[in-house]
Amino acid sequence: MSGNPLIAPAPPGYEPVPARVLTDISTLPCDLYIWRGPRPVLYAMKGGELRKVISRAQRGMSFLVRDVDSDLLRGALAAALPTVLANQRMTPVERSKTAYSIVAKVLSPVFTREHALDHDGLILTHQAIDAITLHLLDDEEMVWAMVATMQKHLATHTHAINTAVYSIVLARFMKFGSADAIRDVARGGLLHDIGKNRVPRSVLDKPAALDSAEWQVMRTHVKSGHDMIIRALGYQPAYAHIVAEHHERCDGSGYPAGRLASGIALDSQLVGVVDAFDALTTRRPYRAPVTAFDALHIMRVAMRGQFSDELLKEFIKLLGGYGTAAAGLEGLDVANVMRVAG
Ligand SMILES: [Fe+2]
Repeated sequence: MSGNPLIAPAPPGYEPVPARVLTDISTLPCDLYIWRGPRPVLYAMKGGELRKVISRAQRGMSFLVRDVDSDLLRGALAAALPTVLANQRMTPVERSKTAYSIVAKVLSPVFTREHALDHDGLILTHQAIDAITLHLLDDEEMVWAMVATMQKHLATHTHAINTAVYSIVLARFMKFGSADAIRDVARGGLLHDIGKNRVPRSVLDKPAALDSAEWQVMRTHVKSGHDMIIRALGYQPAYAHIVAEHHERCDGSGYPAGRLASGIALDSQLVGVVDAFDALTTRRPYRAPVTAFDALHIMRVAMRGQFSDELLKEFIKLLGGYGTAAAGLEGLDVANVMRVAG
C-alpha cells in the first residue's frame, strides 16, 4: 500500500501536524512540540507568539501536538478554513493544498477506528466541508485548484474529501439546486463511506477479490454509516439518505435495496457517480488506478445502465473543461492535472 504523505510519524501520545495547516490560524490553540532527540520538545505555548511558528511552517517544518490537544487544534483549524480559502497572499493551488490538508486533519480521527463518531467530531466535519462548499460556490479559480490538489492515494478520508469536492464541483456545474442543497450533497459526499469504520481491515484492504461472505460484510457500510450519523447527531440530517443510497444503481443492480433510478434520490445518484470515478482513479491495494479517461469509459460502457446518462454527460463535460481552465492556473502541478483529468 502506498504511504499517506499527510501523516508523518509521531511518538506515542503525540500526533503530527502538517506544517502548512498552521499558516492562517490567529491564535495558537494548544502547545506545539518538535521532535528532536529521544522525546518531543516544547516549541511554542498555547496562546503564544505565532510568528516563529509560521516562519517554521513556511519552511515546511512539521510540529507535534499532544493527543489530548487534538480536538482543540482541529477546532481552530476548521475555524481558520474560510480565511485560508480567501487568502490572496497565496496562489489558488497553495490555498487548495492548505485547505485539503486542514480538512484531512479535521477528518482523520472521524475515520479512525479507535475513535467512535461523536457529535462534536461530526459538527466539526460539517464546519470544515461547509467552508469549502461556500467558498467554491463563488470562486471558479479555486474550483479547478481544488480538483488539481486531490490526493490520489489510498486513504478512506482522502477518498471522502475527493468525493465531497467532486460532488460540490459537479453540483455547482449542473446548477443542482440552492446553496443548502449543494451543502448537503457535499456533506453526504464527505461522509458516504463513514460506515466502513465498522468493516474489518482484512475485508477493506484485501488484496484480492472478496468472497460472498466478505461482500456481505462490505455492503453493511451503507446502513451502518447512515445509522452512525443519526446516532451521533441525535436527529436525521438532510443528507442521511445519500449515505444510505450511494451504492444503489439506476438499473437495479446496486445495494442495499436494488432500487431503480426512479427510486434513488438525484443527490445520491450524483455522489454515486463521483464516488465510483474517484475510486477508479485512485490506487487500491488490489489494483492500479486507471486514468480519468478510462474511468469514464468504464462507467459509460462496462457499467452501462448503472449511472444516470444525464449525470455522466455533465461530469464528462465538466472534466473536459477542466483541462482548459487548469492550464491557466499559476503554479499548477501539470503532471497531476493530466493524471487527474486524463
Ligand atoms: Fe461506499
